[in-house]
Amino acid sequence: MRPSAILETILYAEDIAAARAFYEGVLGLTCVMEAEGRQAFFRCGGQMLLVFNPAVTSVQTTGKGVPPPHGARGPGHVCFSASAQELEQWRAKLTASNIEIESELDWKGRGRSFYFRDPAGNSVEFAEPRIWSLRGGRLVVASHNSGKAREMAELLKPYDVEVLSAANLGLAEPEETGDSFAANAELKARAASRAAGLPALADDSGLCVKALDGAPGIYSARWAGPAKDFAMAMRNVEEKLQAKGAADRKAHFVSALSLAWPDDQIETFEGRVDGTLVWPPRGTLGFGYDPMFVPDGFEMTFGEMEPSQKHALSHRARAFRKLADAIF
Ligand code: IMP
Repeated sequence: MRPSAILETILYAEDIAAARAFYEGVLGLTCVMEAEGRQAFFRCGGQMLLVFNPAVTSVQTTGKGVPPPHGARGPGHVCFSASAQELEQWRAKLTASNIEIESELDWKGRGRSFYFRDPAGNSVEFAEPRIWSLRGGRLVVASHNSGKAREMAELLKPYDVEVLSAANLGLAEPEETGDSFAANAELKARAASRAAGLPALADDSGLCVKALDGAPGIYSARWAGPAKDFAMAMRNVEEKLQAKGAADRKAHFVSALSLAWPDDQIETFEGRVDGTLVWPPRGTLGFGYDPMFVPDGFEMTFGEMEPSQKHALSHRARAFRKLADAIF
């Protein structure tokens, strides 16, 4: 068991009226309670920002239901979440309010933030949420395909991420209207992230057959029809290859993995595995077109491989490794 969220952030300011003028007047937070000279409480999204006068709150007050003295003084620090676009809007607003930006940081390409001071000298920051990576956080796996969702959950296992599935959250499955794997992955990740208010990871993948000019490609799922009948989809691939009299049975799987953040930032990584198609299909492990795909350098199909072996070389695992290198 561990706490799921931080409820309050506390700052100290001797001049509570000046703090209220700043947090309400400049930053636009709603002040839900002020006790003159003692404290002002502000709501910020799902959390509260509490500002106390340390001269008052470091003294023990007696009585029933009275909290203990904090014993703390400023200056402290608070950081508000802002998207890349909002950072620029805040910069303009602060400049117009004669508030100086003290410093700016680029967190190794993983988001930016800048710092300034409130009237009491507390350090205030605006930062893109992605500076905090995903470790220890919650992530929606935006796939209604149970085979893919299972593989993504397995790939995420080493990273202390709580995985929520789009299907279990009851999120709608958006229509895949993109014209590339990346476009479809981005569209699915964005839809889930916006709906859940959490980072979301989506995969768009498929089988590209060289002699069929890359088909079924982004239509790989659709070739299985509404019943998701992959025996039929594989037969369809084989029949088209035979109709072409194709001796070249080379194919590759592609996976585009997109990670969308609730502030609409998005990062996409692609992986690919090359191989050959066999007929008849072999093996009952894996999913989709796995039973007819033999990766280069192996004799077994993906459908015959243990999950750990497939994960070591699959297109999804390769895309995931690039994502993990960038994120974790
Ligand atoms: P989509 O990304 O949801 O459009 O679906 C991609 C489709 O490609 C899946 O339904 C599978 O049929 C196929 N596919 C993607 N990755 C794999 C894989 O690792 N093994 C077998 N088939 C796959």
